Amino acid sequence: MTMNDTKIALVTGASRGLGHNMALALARKGVDVIGTYHSNKTEAEATVAAIEALGRKCVMFHLDTGNCSSFGAFAVDVKQALAGNWGRTTFDHLINNAGIGIHASFAETSEADFDRLMNIHVKGVFFLTQTLLPLIADNGRIVNLSSGLTRFSLPGYSAYAMMKGAIEVLTRYLAKELGPRGIAVNTVAPGAIETDFGGGAVRDNKQINDFVASVTALGRPGVPDDIGPAVASLLTDDNRWINAQRIEISGGMVV
Ligand SMILES: NC(=O)c1ccc[n+]([C@@H]2O[C@H](COP(=O)([O-])OP(=O)(O)OC[C@H]3O[C@@H](n4cnc5c(N)ncnc54)[C@H](OP(=O)(O)O)[C@@H]3O)[C@@H](O)[C@H]2O)c1
Repeated sequence: MTMNDTKIALVTGASRGLGHNMALALARKGVDVIGTYHSNKTEAEATVAAIEALGRKCVMFHLDTGNCSSFGAFAVDVKQALAGNWGRTTFDHLINNAGIGIHASFAETSEADFDRLMNIHVKGVFFLTQTLLPLIADNGRIVNLSSGLTRFSLPGYSAYAMMKGAIEVLTRYLAKELGPRGIAVNTVAPGAIETDFGGGAVRDNKQINDFVASVTALGRPGVPDDIGPAVASLLTDDNRWINAQRIEISGGMVV
């Protein structure tokens, strides 16, 4: 593969959990990575080292996806990294993955928590994608992370799930508007996965872990390795005609 054939993916929230796993899975398929982290610089550096050990390039930037005013400067950093590391002006795949979980009943969801979720999961995804648009190559791809919780309802996720629902609608609009540039846009909706998400509840709380296993056709909660390789293969040329879709990856949760 020549340098010019190498694809570059930008993955937000690549320091931990699903983003970290996606970044490694992409690297295993020969894709270079621009990653972002928010609070865990050490884990971000570990992601870089793991990708370099696979023989791929990785640069990592600090980014708060809940702070739109920082996106312009971030795009300048990405532009410089593309020129310096790859001799390019564009990258190929944008994965809007970064996110947080806040579990609260509808009655107890505070305005502050609502705004925090909204800034990270909706406003941030909308304006980060808009800001990066000139840097996404024609015929590139965008993947937006949603959740199984948009299809089925579990108590405590009304704010989070409705915002992921917004991302699914945004995906279809982006697919429509970016189609003329050959850019395919899809939603990936994981079921409950054992990560640090939401305080690591699915992984660490036995009652929740058992509940998820009991409502999942394949009989267990997901692990990051159930998601990263699936996203990496979605981004291969084999799947280039998949567009404007919501792809649930949940082992058959609540079917
Ligand atoms: N795990 C699940 O059960 C599940 C199910 C469905 C959907 N999802 C979605 O999948 C995505 C990834 O979740 P995960 O399970 O991998 O969570 P995670 O293990 O908690 O990792 C979250 C990642 O997002 C980054 N991040 C958090 N807040 C950020 C902010 N304000 N700005 C930029 N980056 C930020 C974190 O960076 P630092 O480590 O540097 O702070 C970390 O890399 C999220 O969109 C989530 O909603 C997760």
